[in-house]
Amino acid sequence: MGAYEEVFQAAVQDREGFWLDAARALEWEQAPTRALDESNPPFYRWFPDGVLNVAHNALDRHVAAGRGDQAALIYDSPVTGTQRTYTYGELTEEVARFAGVLRDLGVGVGDRVVVYMPMVPEAAIAMLACARLGAVHSVVFGGFAAKELAVRIDDATPAVIVSASCGIEGTRVIEYKPLLDKAIELATHKPGKRVILQRPQAEAAMGPDDLDWADAVARATPAAPVPVRSTDPLYVLYTSGTTGKPKGVVRDGGGYATALAWSMPNVYDVGPGQTIFTASDVGWVVGHSYIVYAPLLAGATTVLYEGKPVGTPDAGQFWRVCAEHGVRSLFTAPTAFRALKKEDPDGDYAKKYDLSRLRYLFLAGERLDPETYRWASALLDIPVIDHWWQTETGWPIVADPVGIEQLPVKPGSPTKPLPGWDVQILDAAGKPVPAGEDGAIVVKLPLPPGAFPTLWNDDDRFVSSYMSAFDGYYLTGDGGRIDEDGYVFVMGRTDDVINVAGHRLSTGGMEEVLASHPDVAECAVIGVADTMKGQIPRGFVVLKAGADPDPEQLRAELVQMVRDQIGAVASLKEIAVVAALPKTRSGKILRKTMRGIADGLDEPVPSTIENPDILDALRPVLRKE
Ligand code: COA
Ligand code: AMP
Repeated sequence: MGAYEEVFQAAVQDREGFWLDAARALEWEQAPTRALDESNPPFYRWFPDGVLNVAHNALDRHVAAGRGDQAALIYDSPVTGTQRTYTYGELTEEVARFAGVLRDLGVGVGDRVVVYMPMVPEAAIAMLACARLGAVHSVVFGGFAAKELAVRIDDATPAVIVSASCGIEGTRVIEYKPLLDKAIELATHKPGKRVILQRPQAEAAMGPDDLDWADAVARATPAAPVPVRSTDPLYVLYTSGTTGKPKGVVRDGGGYATALAWSMPNVYDVGPGQTIFTASDVGWVVGHSYIVYAPLLAGATTVLYEGKPVGTPDAGQFWRVCAEHGVRSLFTAPTAFRALKKEDPDGDYAKKYDLSRLRYLFLAGERLDPETYRWASALLDIPVIDHWWQTETGWPIVADPVGIEQLPVKPGSPTKPLPGWDVQILDAAGKPVPAGEDGAIVVKLPLPPGAFPTLWNDDDRFVSSYMSAFDGYYLTGDGGRIDEDGYVFVMGRTDDVINVAGHRLSTGGMEEVLASHPDVAECAVIGVADTMKGQIPRGFVVLKAGADPDPEQLRAELVQMVRDQIGAVASLKEIAVVAALPKTRSGKILRKTMRGIADGLDEPVPSTIENPDILDALRPVLRKE
């Protein structure tokens, strides 16, 4: 048995022992005596009698161990020309002070705080300050528009919102404060105070409920970490589901911190004093786990990068960051590498920098196409590790565990499941399919520590969305197969979720926006393959009888509505006005068939189709002929 197999089997044979042992990597106020509470499936709880503070584990613990002078977080911002390093001592102090600000605003255990910020260190400080108080943060990605923010404010009902005056998107300055004000106006729930980080690129006009971050911090006294139950929520992170209403993925403290602490040496091969650069955004799960929590729990150094892979100002920035900060593991989305490849196909920028300390490239967030895998491998000559995970899971489900054993790679597969994940492929009837055949990717319950225990305030949706399709299994929403060697191939979503440039979006949400236009009778949005972004949305609208708008103007209005209501990240730019949409006899729009045709596949016409002529008429539009 290889080392990977041994570790995987250890978690199968003795689940309790394996995870209690992993939990010893943390410092507990009250160490757990049991790993898993299975009394109320599918609501499993990890370390039910454990008590800890996650921020203490991420910060104070390392200072107490004598590592206060080691770099904890390096802020590298080519868009503002700034670099700042926080040692563990300094970051602990900043977090304690900001926790003092929140505490003075009445934030306590279990209270929610919405964080709507660009990629600045204060975003991580705000998150950790919440964790320090036992409060629950809910970070909203800065690329979401006011309405999306409002929906999240209404669901999370925060006591306080933390934001900034602006973000910098490439070369543009995006003012956040007007978006925040608009969101609060749209929301039914009115949070008390908001703390605003003023940035020199665009100062915000402050209202009576707005506190200036710098003033508030200067006045505050540091707050001590508050021990909370392991099962208490650490954060809520909204993610796109199949409808316009996002799902509030809940993360507990103890299970999550245990899983992350386990993953750092075993998956990412990064230990204390070593540097990981996760080029993502704190608004996504990858940012929560591998920009903020996991590196700090491991006592490593994390790079928080404010910029893009290309254009800020050039395609050499990732390599500059890796060289300057001695990065050991770089983690980003395949789309970033496709952007680099387009801009710098021969990798000339990479050759300018000393990348001798870069040991691994980790890619996730969307399928890693074999061509991008090969290009990145040839460019860097280091292991390129595809790994598969989701907001719901909090850490990878399937990954090459290079800290344990590097498995041989099969391009197109993130290799094998990590310990704790019992991944299986089922057919529509819930029967296991033979090796190599496609089906729904599911995980047998219970899920390991770190995975979501429920959805915020919505146990019913947790069960109906994920736990009821196949009794005893978590429905991942992805389709794919497992080959005869146990390698998992993740081929794409089986629902209406799409991945655009590594951003998870709901086509259902976009359809809701299009359908609200007065001239639109019905519509469909599908995700089609895109060489750069992986997928991009395309919209198809049918006009109401009697409506006769100028098609160009209608398209422009619809595009703008999606930008205004969801955000620019939706990237919906192509909208076609069509006579009718193909449907089944029961009235369901044949989105999968449309997607297949648009992707140039030999898509079979479903036997349930109501009127094949409609599909035939749409074919040239879908294929852009
Ligand atoms: N705030 C405001 N607007 C934002 C934003 C933010 N935080 N992030 C993106 N946007 C805007 C962009 O400016 C762009 O606007 P535009 O249509 O007016 O040009 C739009 O949303 C689409 O952005 P994006 O999808 O990022 O495309 P891009 O062309 O600007 O950049 C990449 C393409 C590949 C360089 C970029 O998407 C990237 O770096 N992706 C990495 C993905 C990632 O980190 N995923 C997280 C999971 S690991
Ligand atoms: P998110 O919740 O934003 O992390 O998006 C999760 C989704 O991204 C998954 O359900 C997959 O569809 C996709 N995804 C993430 N990582 C991979 C990967 N390595 N290979 C294929 N798809 C992936």
